[in-house]
Amino acid sequence: MPKSRRKTLAVLTSGGDCAGLNAVIRAVVARASEGYGWRVIGLKDGTLGLMQKPRQFVELDVNVCGGDMLRQGGTFLGTTNKGDPFAFPMQDGTKKDRSNEIIEAVRELGIDAMIAIGGDGSLRIIRKLAQQGNIPLVAVPKTIDNDVHLTQYAVGFNTAVDVCVEALDRLQPTAASHHRVMILEVMGRDAGHIALHAGVAGGADAILIPEIPYTLEGVKAKLDKVKASGRNHALMVVAEGVKTETGGPVTVAHSDAQVRYGGIGHYLSDQLAKMVGAETRYTVLGHVQRGGTPSSSDRVLASAFGVHAVDLIAYERYDRMVAWQGRGVTDVPLAEVAGVTRSVTLDDPLLRSARGLGIYVGEAKA
Ligand code: F6P
Repeated sequence: MPKSRRKTLAVLTSGGDCAGLNAVIRAVVARASEGYGWRVIGLKDGTLGLMQKPRQFVELDVNVCGGDMLRQGGTFLGTTNKGDPFAFPMQDGTKKDRSNEIIEAVRELGIDAMIAIGGDGSLRIIRKLAQQGNIPLVAVPKTIDNDVHLTQYAVGFNTAVDVCVEALDRLQPTAASHHRVMILEVMGRDAGHIALHAGVAGGADAILIPEIPYTLEGVKAKLDKVKASGRNHALMVVAEGVKTETGGPVTVAHSDAQVRYGGIGHYLSDQLAKMVGAETRYTVLGHVQRGGTPSSSDRVLASAFGVHAVDLIAYERYDRMVAWQGRGVTDVPLAEVAGVTRSVTLDDPLLRSARGLGIYVGEAKA
């Protein structure tokens, strides 16, 4: 049974933001303070706020985290995807292990347990911290990429897919008006979940994802077929992690010296224009996929995850991640999740559906 002592629970968001993070925080606060009478604090900017003095955190209660939070995109706590405390980038260009500073801050603030809302990369780092500092930890999966192992859905994915589908709905009439092939480049890193879901929901003729090889001839054959059917335009969705036909990644170097995916839509647009003889245009959706009001599915997921995460702490079931499996919320060992990427597998039922619709999804068959 849950212990009755008043705990101090800390919640943080880490890694890239997405829609639905505030909804998780709201659910955590509601369950912890109303259900168990605990104190809840929100840590600022992932673990970065704990490296600072004074420590950066806010007191949370149901007045601070009301129903309006359910509707807000982003994370009001702030987050970072660059602050690995085990190899923290210092101003002089060196990397420093600052993990003990965070553990010291956790003790100083009297934190009894922590809920970390993160993706596969950030959860791996926070688990390592928790183990080193003996910090009771429960994780909540979030990422538009939906690549967290052992959960069908992560918070933020559904909203991102909705954004992509809206983009396809807007691209279709302009494609038809100008007799064009429109290529939509979407995020997802090395996983094709966003592209696959958005392409099916948005009526794409071709969907290219990193997990399945394609040929330009294969895409051309599909576009030729569309033309032969009498349709004057086509829609394509490509995941940012898709390589060129010869296998090279398409990337952009950013001002922070990090290389990120970007540009495969442009590459395909150039290649296909030459091959198909049709006018092509590409759109890179970028970070609009991460922002905006969370969809109803993400709000439901976030709310169920937040409540379950607090209940796990109440029952002292630590080192676990809440997950969505089948028809509801459950939990899995964090050890089996952290650092593993969930890709689209060849037996994914949605791939079969896509092929059944006549969509070109690359050359590999399940
Ligand atoms: O992991 C989420 C994600 O949005 C990826 O889909 C994308 O490749 C990456 O983050 C972008 O990172 P940043 O916000 O650092 O540009």
